[in-house]
Amino acid sequence: MIRIDKYLCDNAGLSRSEAKKAVLSSKVTINNIPVKRCEAKLLEGTDTVTLNGDPIIYEKYSYYMLNKPSGYVSANSDSREKTVIELFSSEKKKNLACVGRLDKDTTGLLLVTNDGELIHKLISPRKNVFKDYLVTIVKALTVEDIKALEEGVDINDPALTRPAKVRVIDDNNIILSITEGRFHQVKRMLIAVGNAVVKLKRISEGSLKLDDSLSEGQYRKLTPDEIDMLKAL
Ligand code: URA
Repeated sequence: MIRIDKYLCDNAGLSRSEAKKAVLSSKVTINNIPVKRCEAKLLEGTDTVTLNGDPIIYEKYSYYMLNKPSGYVSANSDSREKTVIELFSSEKKKNLACVGRLDKDTTGLLLVTNDGELIHKLISPRKNVFKDYLVTIVKALTVEDIKALEEGVDINDPALTRPAKVRVIDDNNIILSITEGRFHQVKRMLIAVGNAVVKLKRISEGSLKLDDSLSEGQYRKLTPDEIDMLKAL
């Protein structure tokens, strides 16, 4: 059983104070009966809830797309650094974790969820999912550099990097697509061809694209289609 105000926070994306206000102003029903007390309880997945007449469906898990800002570490807690989970409101952040990691100075698409099984599936090294990075580099790549990056480069690991794709935008900007997620991989790949990363932003993961309308630090819930897409990866 769960309190109605908590249910609204979890499933309708309201803050605790918005949820309380909605209940107190008679906008909420449980099993078609208006509720007036925030202490009222319901059985998730069994009882039906409406807010302003619209059904609020029980969601076991939450899935968010975050446009990660620079200066935040991809962790749940850190004694010295700001973490991406701190960007979520306190009602939402319980049990949330990042799907993989981006470096502190990397920006862009980071998935955040409390679905541990999906996290485990998506970060498995066996996944052959391309992740696209918009990379600002110090100098233009040569044809040989592109060939090396696409075939696999030595980044001082036991194995060469897996085949990648390079799309040149201009002398200082490329899109590099890789299927692995080794430590500082993109930066080390560029160093391996005598170049260096100035700025790094992840723009997609498989068919999931970073939403252009999210500015750095903003997040939104994934749509049902996006969640299905992720589960199918
Ligand atoms: N590669 C890097 O070097 N850093 C990231 O944050 C992601 C990929």
